[in-house]
Amino acid sequence: MAGQFYLPRGKAGSLIGWIMVWTNRWLYKRALSKMAENLLGNAKIIEIGFGPGIGIKMLAERFTNSDLIAGIDPSEVMIRQAENRNKKKIQLGTAKLVKGRADSIPFPDDTFDGALVLNNFFLWSEPYDRSLSELRRVLKSNALVIIGYAQWVAKDQVKKLSRTVSSIKGPDEEIVNLLNESGSFNDIRIEKIGSFVK
Ligand SMILES: C[S@@+](CC[C@H](N)C(=O)[O-])C[C@H]1O[C@@H](n2cnc3c(N)ncnc32)[C@H](O)[C@@H]1O
Repeated sequence: MAGQFYLPRGKAGSLIGWIMVWTNRWLYKRALSKMAENLLGNAKIIEIGFGPGIGIKMLAERFTNSDLIAGIDPSEVMIRQAENRNKKKIQLGTAKLVKGRADSIPFPDDTFDGALVLNNFFLWSEPYDRSLSELRRVLKSNALVIIGYAQWVAKDQVKKLSRTVSSIKGPDEEIVNLLNESGSFNDIRIEKIGSFVK
């Protein structure tokens, strides 16, 4: 069942998409208000692992002057749900959803002012360096990246990861370690905006 949350497929995957809409909306609201505090209304933003597409919709509603709200996700079921939720913006050409994974992002260098990565980071293929350098490549300098987790998803994904990484303290510390070790984000300022309750 957990596998369906990580790569939704078929009818069950479609149902999982609806569950994610209800369970993760609060996390999107929180991430979006932080983005709105820091980015202008015309910011170009990419969401990695957009799932059912509520993040893309909320971003398009907040950043009304943006000509590019983009997303990448490998799940065909999620792409269909996200496309249905964002039909108008896709037709206008201001929202672009592509099938793919974080380790190969089909956008030019220095495109985005912001990136959103919710309930997704630990699903990237190991080693994480490739996805992190891809993300860095498509971001402008001074871009804002928000990486967030709902508690139960973080616990589950970290459990999976702990088979290969021995000293996990919590998802936030592990993410900071991976960012630092990758070498792609040497110039960033890391700010913790919420806490992981164990
Ligand atoms: C747990 S869901 C989270 C969806 C949404 N971000 C949310 O919080 O509701 C994980 C999503 O990440 C996608 N995903 C899995 N592996 C990925 C990868 N390597 N790169 C980008 N997205 C990935 C899945 O298809 C799925 O839509």
